Amino acid sequence: MKVVKDIKSIRKLIKQYKMQGKSIGFVPTMGALHEGHLSLIRKARRENDIVIASIFVNPLQFGLNEDLEKYPRPINKDKKLLEKEKVAVLFLPTNEIMYPHILYTYVDIDKLKDCMCGLSRPTHFIGVLTVVAKLFNIITPDKVYFGQKDYQQAMIIKKMILDLNFPIKINICPIVREKSGLALSSRNMYLNEKEKLEALALYNALNLGKEISFKNKNAKFIATKMKNYILKNYKNIKIDYLNVRNADTLEKIKHILPKKTLLCGAIYVGKTRLIDNIII
Ligand code: PAF
Repeated sequence: MKVVKDIKSIRKLIKQYKMQGKSIGFVPTMGALHEGHLSLIRKARRENDIVIASIFVNPLQFGLNEDLEKYPRPINKDKKLLEKEKVAVLFLPTNEIMYPHILYTYVDIDKLKDCMCGLSRPTHFIGVLTVVAKLFNIITPDKVYFGQKDYQQAMIIKKMILDLNFPIKINICPIVREKSGLALSSRNMYLNEKEKLEALALYNALNLGKEISFKNKNAKFIATKMKNYILKNYKNIKIDYLNVRNADTLEKIKHILPKKTLLCGAIYVGKTRLIDNIII
């Protein structure tokens, strides 16, 4: 695996691949890789000649009091995992490479960011879109791979690709879970065993919502049931949000829409903020 840290070198390499007619699949990450990331890489390998992954903990998408400093950075372990998955190139830029001077230009998105995670993380998606647009312009991939766990992020990136005419096909891949049902996340590393059990509150609540939806199609009723379930059974969990939404538009809905209803939520387990969702 080639590890490339600067933009000029990666552009040169990618130019060579393109001259050889090779297709490029790209998996952007912030590292602390787990099976969820690896599932994206495996799909990218099946669908492309060359797989490029990036690891960059993007400061722009962290709020003031968030976990930028303590975000896990097990870079040697990550490199080994990527080698094992036969990733051709790891793009591993520093902050100075990605943001060499004050940024005048940001990518923002209307509507889709003013709900769900965007409410408690108001600058997050501008940070995500800006870095992802930069990465797309550097890597110029044919296909890109994102996880459904960050559903709002994936939808927002999908819209940016469409609105700004990036010639890229986006794949949104299924959530990978632990046996218990807990969605894999780099932030699970913050949890101790007790907290890991408590973290299941979210997945359990989403499943309860799904079960109720077979009998009752009222979205407000389902959202209330999901919230009450957590409030009643998990004293140490703080709910950020638990919503029932249109999976295409992210708008709140009144009644369940067959196959395109998104049950989604974010909770705090101690200081750790976790998200999850299911489509019903
Ligand atoms: O999902 C992530 O890991 C990040 O938000 C991304 C897409 C790599 C942008 O920094």
